[in-house]
Amino acid sequence: MTSARQGFFSIVAAAGLCAVIVGTADASRSAAIANGPPASAAPAKYIGSAKCKNCHANKAHGDQFGRWKEEKHSQAFTSLASPAALAAGKERGVAEPQKDAACLKCHVTAASEPAERLAKGFDPKEGVGCETCHGPGEAHFKARMAAAAAAEGEEGFGDEAAAPAAVKLPDGEIVLRPKVELCVQCHNKESPTFKPFCMKERVKEIAHFDPRKPRTPDQLAGKDFDCLPDCEKCKGGK
Ligand code: HEC
Ligand code: HEC
Ligand code: HEC
Ligand code: HEC
Repeated sequence: MTSARQGFFSIVAAAGLCAVIVGTADASRSAAIANGPPASAAPAKYIGSAKCKNCHANKAHGDQFGRWKEEKHSQAFTSLASPAALAAGKERGVAEPQKDAACLKCHVTAASEPAERLAKGFDPKEGVGCETCHGPGEAHFKARMAAAAAAEGEEGFGDEAAAPAAVKLPDGEIVLRPKVELCVQCHNKESPTFKPFCMKERVKEIAHFDPRKPRTPDQLAGKDFDCLPDCEKCKGGK
């Protein structure tokens, strides 16, 4: 009952996989901050945020899944059933916001993608999930699962404390840094509850940095994110 493969999947189940993977990272690869999605992203499917939890819920690595669960993007579908949502819907002739594309287009992941881009088991009730900002995760999921399985045969992995986050993923596998142009596809005046959106200000509220990666105080404060030229809060996006 303790074949290598069974061992591997029990590690996944225990959400300890990242420690295993990072332990094998090539320290010569840098954790440089990429600036937005590559021009040609791989045609991967949307697999849902629950899949990301397997590897991104480790507190020592920033618990991205836990952070997302605490903030409102993860409630964006649920909140469409609130009294405020029903009232906002009524004003616009929308009786059931949770079933209407007029609201779903900004309140769930991949709302305007064709069905074939959604993996089996993808559940739009997750709201505005990881893949809204990081792009479809199928290729990343497969590549990291395969890397973890390969690493299982190696000696000496899993020494988390000795392993900095130095994994440089291949370009296009997953988007590291969403741009302001993505945020304002939803954070705009078409939203019934629109609040002026300054990325430098707002990105802090959803931050889920990996504490193992070196960052300057300005980076942690969101100051090196882009903003739009007409943003008054950060004076012309500067
Ligand atoms: C099998 C494990 C695994 C799964 C599942 C997984 N990831 Fe990752 N992910 C990694 C590893 C390993 C890294 C690189 C080291 C690190 O940041 O911990 C990484 C890095 C990332 C990064 C940073 C990219 C960069 O260039 O530094 C993002 C963003 C990310 N993952 C998002 C996701 C999303 C979204 C999902 C779900 C769709 C997901 N991951 C699922 C293992 C996984
Ligand atoms: C697919 C649409 C969509 C995209 C893209 C999007 N958001 Fe949001 N965002 C929402 C919705 C919807 C809510 C409100 C959810 C609710 O209260 O039901 C929200 C809420 C927020 C909040 C409030 C969070 C809280 O917990 O109070 C912040 C901050 C925010 N978004 C920042 C961003 C940033 C920064 C980006 C770009 C990196 C972004 N959003 C991209 C739809 C989106
Ligand atoms: C263009 C994108 C967009 C559309 C379309 C949209 N929303 Fe939203 N909605 C947002 C964003 C972005 C937020 C977060 C507001 C913020 O913090 O800036 C939000 C927040 C909300 C909130 C929470 C408000 C709060 O203060 O917590 C409710 C309720 C809501 N929307 C209802 C609806 C309903 C009902 C519809 C359809 C009639 C709808 N939305 C259509 C983008 C949109
Ligand atoms: C509203 C947009 C948004 C959502 C939703 C979102 N992220 Fe992120 N994520 C970001 C931004 C912005 C960064 C910072 C990138 C940077 O600093 O270059 C980031 C960074 C990351 C990183 C890299 C951390 C680091 O320090 O380099 C990982 C891993 C990650 N996110 C995983 C996830 C996972 C898993 C989910 C879902 C549970 C998720 N993200 C949901 C916007 C988002």
